[in-house]
Amino acid sequence: MLILFLSLMLASVQATPVLLESGQDAPRRRLLMDYGWRFTRGDVPGAEQPTFDDQAWRVVDLPHDWSIEGPYDEHAPTTGRGGYLPTGIGWYRRRFALPEEATGRRIHVVFDGIYQHSDVWINGHHLGHRPNGYISFAYDLTPYLVEGENVLAVRVDNSRQPNSRWYSGSGIYRHAWLLITDVLHLDLWSTFVRTPLVDSTAATVAVTAQLVNTDTTRRTGSLETLVLDPNGHAVARTILPFTVAPGASATAEASLPVERPALWSPETPVRYTLRLLVRERGRVIDGEDTPFGIRHLAFEADRGFLLNGRPVKMRGVNLHHDGGPVGAAVPEAVWVRRLKLLKAMGVNAIRTAHNPPAPEFLDLTDRMGFLVMNEAFDEWTHGKVEYGYHRDFDTWAERDLADFIRRDRNHPSVILWSLGNEIAEQHVEGGPEVLLRLRNVARREDPTRPLTTGNDHIAADDGATTEAFLSLLDIVGYNYVDRWHERRELYAEQDRHAHPTWKMIGTENVSVRGVRGAYSLGDDPARVDPDYTTGMIRAAELWKFVALHDYFMGDFMWTGIDYLGEARWPHKNASSGVLDLVGFPKDGYHFYQSLWTDAPVLHLFPHWNWPGREGQFIPVLAYTNVDAVALYLNDRFIGEKRRQFPRPGTSGCWNCYDEPPVRVTTADLHLSWDVPYEPGVLRAVGKRNGETVVTAEVHTTGPPAALRLVADRDTLVAGVRDVGHVRVEVVDAAGRVVPTANNPVHIRIEGPARLLALGNGDPADHSPYQATERRVFHGLAMAFVQTTDDPGSARLTATADGLRSDTVTLTVVPAAPPPPRLP
Ligand code: GAL
Repeated sequence: MLILFLSLMLASVQATPVLLESGQDAPRRRLLMDYGWRFTRGDVPGAEQPTFDDQAWRVVDLPHDWSIEGPYDEHAPTTGRGGYLPTGIGWYRRRFALPEEATGRRIHVVFDGIYQHSDVWINGHHLGHRPNGYISFAYDLTPYLVEGENVLAVRVDNSRQPNSRWYSGSGIYRHAWLLITDVLHLDLWSTFVRTPLVDSTAATVAVTAQLVNTDTTRRTGSLETLVLDPNGHAVARTILPFTVAPGASATAEASLPVERPALWSPETPVRYTLRLLVRERGRVIDGEDTPFGIRHLAFEADRGFLLNGRPVKMRGVNLHHDGGPVGAAVPEAVWVRRLKLLKAMGVNAIRTAHNPPAPEFLDLTDRMGFLVMNEAFDEWTHGKVEYGYHRDFDTWAERDLADFIRRDRNHPSVILWSLGNEIAEQHVEGGPEVLLRLRNVARREDPTRPLTTGNDHIAADDGATTEAFLSLLDIVGYNYVDRWHERRELYAEQDRHAHPTWKMIGTENVSVRGVRGAYSLGDDPARVDPDYTTGMIRAAELWKFVALHDYFMGDFMWTGIDYLGEARWPHKNASSGVLDLVGFPKDGYHFYQSLWTDAPVLHLFPHWNWPGREGQFIPVLAYTNVDAVALYLNDRFIGEKRRQFPRPGTSGCWNCYDEPPVRVTTADLHLSWDVPYEPGVLRAVGKRNGETVVTAEVHTTGPPAALRLVADRDTLVAGVRDVGHVRVEVVDAAGRVVPTANNPVHIRIEGPARLLALGNGDPADHSPYQATERRVFHGLAMAFVQTTDDPGSARLTATADGLRSDTVTLTVVPAAPPPPRLP
């Protein structure tokens, strides 16, 4: 029986913050269930039984990915797609006693993601099976719980291979939670916050939520809905009476006005909080906080994407879900560092290629300000890999898509849904019908955001994407429009004329490939045959098109960061990133930074250690956004080169020209010089309007002399598995990083921290990430240092044969307050 609320709206403004987790008004508890699991590889008959003896199993904490432990094997069943890493079957078990507060309440376990094909049991009772490795899901444990010890058992089956085109990881690789609520509670992921009306003077916040009554009696009370501003002050409130029959659920709807809202954007990522309080006789019995943003999205055929009324070009990157050396179990602090680097590159948009991300990833994109194209699938009914999702699609896709959208639809950063990547249904018979099935689900769960897919056959000669398929999309997504003949130069222009009402976005179109710091002049010592001078050409062509065509909403380059898998032996990762696997910028990073940011950028490459090449002409390149760069070698003037983009008159206003005009020397988006090699110092001086605004130098270095450690943060937090990144540099006697160094380095940590991983960005390095020794790669390595529960002082020391060692000290402070955990 469904009883709907009488919607009584009392909009009032109240200035006192209400604390949801305070004392007796702490109505629901969400306990982190990450700690103290037992784990074993392989299949174990009977391990779901509570009496099973797991004492010989390893103790692990979540998030946990067993694949990243290796070893790499050229013949691994995952093939290069999975980075040649092991997969198979694994079991997890967690014993727990119910906290006292749980008596008489409803207890759910929530998994943010298990890769893949998980089965979960509580006290021997099978709760369910979930094939999709990227989906979050929950089970109600209540009927099967006992006093004393309970045992949760999870079997993970990632044995059928290959089932992914990239590295997936294996195991409970995301957080797990125990959710304790009243028997009358707000249903998981039922809350939906929308902002149907937004301008700078006022906004309307529309809320839907579902109350579930698992009690045996009718429950009556009131639902209070509060909007808290970014400072935690209530700025709008409604109170709705409710009555829910036993075993029934009811939908609540409210609409609240917010005056002079602070608008969310990538530059101003301000969040409001929607607070729901379920009261009976004045007492709060359940409640939930949902962060959201107030922003207005418009997607137009002519003007492209508009945020809060202003056209915004998406400067996007594709990202896979792994974190490089930490595998698929990515601590939040690793994402924080990666996202900061992307932000500094000028990125304002991210496509979650090609699966639902971790929930905390979207919290970060909300808080740090990124527009997210949230993508669901890489396969529908037609497979790309033998054991891919196509095998589960018919049974699970609608459920998975609904759960995904319900979980993520309140994030202000999420601006559109991608239903799939390079899906075969774009050009096969019956494809539009499959799309329609998914579209119906997406519209039902979120009618506010547009739908797209990344289509790679739009201009194919054979098997072109059908118009029937494209016409069902709100926005036509282009994947590699440059794959097709003359379209390389025209991109979407022909479609624009044929279909003037289409809305268009570049979902994935180009890479600036390359391995960090790897420059070759060829094998012939008498001839210079460089391999680093052309990687940016197609990216430049594409960006010229995207930047100058308002109707094209932007583009997501492939990829922001290197990712494990999609590799060919001996490489274990793809090198399409502009950041390498440990997060060191490659030259391509500075290329995009020069196009996507305004503060002066001047990046010179390659390195200048070329013994034996004296007198030969070596190309020197610069990525820059200044108009003129003068290059000097050992203080000798080599020449000045000038660029300008966009060309005057092609942007801004009619007849607007920069003064003084730039007499350009190239139509490229980079500058280059051929410099006769001699060791020493290359010095570039960048000017705007004739004034020096930036300089850059590249030095010929001496041989390795010492190690230098540079931490990204001095202070880490205990109890939250915080991660510090310590850069290990091999430097010469003058303190310059030696770009050709590959010395093996040993890391030792004392104090309350551990070495989570040691990486170097080398795609062909097969030593395990957990080892304490690794070669630096082109002078650099990265130590990922993770805190424990204890505060104190952690000392990391790096040593290497023949080099001066170095030590860095990190202060570990207590978490305040520590997140509630299941004991
Ligand atoms: C694209 C695909 C990506 C990745 C990339 C490699 O076509 O969507 O997932 O495989 O190619 O270049």
